[in-house]
Amino acid sequence: MNATLPTAEVLRATLAGLFDGLPPKQAARAVERLIANYRGTTPTDAPVLRDRSDVAAYAAYRMPATFEAVRSALAALREAAPDWTPATHTDVGGGTGAASWAVAGAWEEGPRTAVLDWAEPALALGRELAGLSGIPALRAAEWRRARIGAGLELAPTDLITVSYVLKELTADVRTALVDSAAAAAQAVVVVEPGTPDGYARIIEARDRLIAAGLTVAAPCPHSDACPIEPGTDWCHFSARVSRSSLHRQVKGGSLPYEDEKFSYVVATRFGTEPVAARVTRKPQIRKGQVLLDLCTRDEALRRATVTKRHGELYRAARDVAWGDEWPPGENA
Ligand SMILES: C[S@@+](CC[C@H](N)C(=O)[O-])C[C@H]1O[C@@H](n2cnc3c(N)ncnc32)[C@H](O)[C@@H]1O
Repeated sequence: MNATLPTAEVLRATLAGLFDGLPPKQAARAVERLIANYRGTTPTDAPVLRDRSDVAAYAAYRMPATFEAVRSALAALREAAPDWTPATHTDVGGGTGAASWAVAGAWEEGPRTAVLDWAEPALALGRELAGLSGIPALRAAEWRRARIGAGLELAPTDLITVSYVLKELTADVRTALVDSAAAAAQAVVVVEPGTPDGYARIIEARDRLIAAGLTVAAPCPHSDACPIEPGTDWCHFSARVSRSSLHRQVKGGSLPYEDEKFSYVVATRFGTEPVAARVTRKPQIRKGQVLLDLCTRDEALRRATVTKRHGELYRAARDVAWGDEWPPGENA
């Protein structure tokens, strides 16, 4: 690999290189075992990712998707804070490094990254992938064994990512982690699966980050309470993930892509410009009109109907995607 910035393609090629020669059946079996373990109850007292075959399966099966989800969250942070660049980054529960790949790709000069995880095999594979990537910021990352527990203290850093980790923690450890991240970082990015449970954990984290004095940069247009009535809906987004042949082998199915649903929050200690409104569902394109579900700064949740009569705005509505700001460029 000879890239300077990590992209989905570089990640796919690096993963493919790593699995070159591994019989597809063996890879598929490792994935099945991993899925079965993840279906079991989490949190656990010991790492679920126990050996190289577990982590290899995780990397092939999940890393492209968690990478894309974090990439979307970071894009929203960059939109809200275009002049901010982190010099240091801690990836808590970073596993094989998907979030660190996304961070290294989000800014021209990737920050100095430390990846913390309790699963040594995950760190080892993450380090190996980073080495194979050829990307300077990734190769320079530090991979450190650490247990996220009630007494966790994180060293001061510019950016903290917590990607697909809260689900694996008990309620008090989740709280301790979010409080510790809020105390340590200038910007905190938390990403969870886009399920009702994942959203509930994001809202819990959002509340704690705000209570700790941070403000929400994305996806919300404000730092007031989320307007969704608990139990009626959940705020989530979707990231398109191209599937390599390796990915298709280990996950089955034949589509060239899949959509990763995720929930997230980005909160910062510094001032940002959150969007005035964000599209919270896939826009519905009808004949001569587009229906947009929006979360807005001033009117909470509302449905906008944009018709041909709106001219320029109508053309913009036909192009806008779930998760984008509305109207486009408002923040530019
Ligand atoms: C679903 S994986 C997510 C990995 C990575 N952040 C990503 O987005 O792909 C969850 C990670 O959290 C780590 N983890 C879970 N509980 C932990 C704990 N108590 N201490 C340290 N790491 C933990 C696991 O080892 C695993 O690498």
